[in-house]
Amino acid sequence: MPSPRRTFAIISHPDAGKTTLTEKLLYVGGAIHLAGEVKARGANRRARSDWMKIEQQRGISVTSSVMTFEKDGVFFNLLDTPGHEDFSEDTYRTLTAVDSAVMVIDAARGIEAQTRKLFEVCRLRNVPIITFVNKVDREGRPVFELLDEIADVLALDVCPMSWPVGMGGTFEGILDLATNRISRPDGDSRTFQGRTEDAPQLPADVAEEIELAQAGYASFDAEAYRAGDLTPVYFGSALKDFGPAELIAALAEFAPPPRPQPAEPAPVQPDEKDVTGFVFKVQANMDPQHRDRIAFMRLCSGTFKRGMKLTPTGHGKPIAVHSPILFFAQDREIADEAFPGDIIGIPNHGTLRVGDTLSEKPGVRITGLPNFAPEILRRVALKDPTKTKQLRKALDDLSEEGVIQVFYPEIGSNWIIGVVGQLQLDVLLSRLEAEYKVGANLEASPFDTARWISASDPAALKEFMDLNRSALAKDRDGNPVFLAKSAWEVGYIADRYSKVTFAATRER
Ligand code: G4P
Repeated sequence: MPSPRRTFAIISHPDAGKTTLTEKLLYVGGAIHLAGEVKARGANRRARSDWMKIEQQRGISVTSSVMTFEKDGVFFNLLDTPGHEDFSEDTYRTLTAVDSAVMVIDAARGIEAQTRKLFEVCRLRNVPIITFVNKVDREGRPVFELLDEIADVLALDVCPMSWPVGMGGTFEGILDLATNRISRPDGDSRTFQGRTEDAPQLPADVAEEIELAQAGYASFDAEAYRAGDLTPVYFGSALKDFGPAELIAALAEFAPPPRPQPAEPAPVQPDEKDVTGFVFKVQANMDPQHRDRIAFMRLCSGTFKRGMKLTPTGHGKPIAVHSPILFFAQDREIADEAFPGDIIGIPNHGTLRVGDTLSEKPGVRITGLPNFAPEILRRVALKDPTKTKQLRKALDDLSEEGVIQVFYPEIGSNWIIGVVGQLQLDVLLSRLEAEYKVGANLEASPFDTARWISASDPAALKEFMDLNRSALAKDRDGNPVFLAKSAWEVGYIADRYSKVTFAATRER
């Protein structure tokens, strides 16, 4: 029997403390020895996009995408979700590869926009969530207000698992409600250094609050949590070491082990013998000299062994995975074995794509990794027209990585790229320059949105396509796409061509 696996992500709004918490989790998990090793921090960091920040520190870019550590016999796989405000497909796909999430909220700010969006993605897939209310060492909002906000905004039952005794200047520790043990701050830094006390004397107002809370909120129900209906709420301060250890213990005790994955022809169960996994992320150009890429595969079933042959469903011959990478924080390690829930990095030269299923068993396809209709379309104009070939290569690569989507119009040579958030445009331009030496400008596109088109009646599809050539394009995989000037136009055209399906997402 392999050790238990907990594969999870941290979701939060920028600045809530995700980086700090990640560091502390890795520290508690024994994966790093000094806090401060995960990422650049502070103003320097925030001035840049996540990607550029990573770009500057290529050395750790892989390990910061997936970090594995072991604590008390449990293996934790922590998947990084980009922290910027733009919702990105990359984030969505990463969340398809986890079994649970930790939601970090700033005690002074409550639920913020990005937290909410990410939460909605988790909800779509019933990903269970543990909530961590961070920064109680500073003045924050009243505890009841925070708990009610979580319950109202997210429509979840909340169950406080711990309680802050004071906040900011009056902060005296965190009480574990199950054991009635308090963790106390020490020293000038007011950090947690291991001092605890059982059944402490509490200020009268706090004791009263706790009594009210225990009567008023749901009690903990592991089933409801795992179904995504209830969130246990922990209070703490990542900066001051209050909470990380409790979160690890909670993940070990309550968070679900690897779950069955939706797939065709039938869901893939973790205890199946055959190895099946799917690629949720591809990172290209880790080494600018070699143009290699790493496909991140989440293992869904079976025991993966080094050298094993796996077949990408739908395209290609079996590939032998000779040098898979496991992501123990700090080091890339060559994996000999991996189990369901684990993430394996597979080096390749572009054969593996986001959404690919890899399996020992023929014909399995993991479902539910959609492409989203882009919300922003731009025409790419080359500064140097002799660089067409390089541009095409770059756009193909970057779309394969999921940075952008690319559309090649049927008529004309103005390639169009599509993104779901503004930030992706910046990332595109900087990567074109840095990695492909292609200078480009992005110009307004005559189109505003895109839909993948299909029809069960080929004649109907052909008729539509013949009459609308000027608005047709192909995506990177050669699928036909209708480029529309507005969402209204999509509706109008869809009415007129009722036999044609106009899809805003395309499942890969
Ligand atoms: P993010 O990844 O979610 O964007 O947040 P990050 O951990 O970088 O934290 C954002 C800021 O909040 C940082 O301060 C960090 O030190 C601070 N912070 C995180 N957790 C806590 C906490 O529990 N208590 C308090 N008081 N602050 C916390 P900064 O000044 O912007 O950066 P830095 O220069 O201190 O690193």
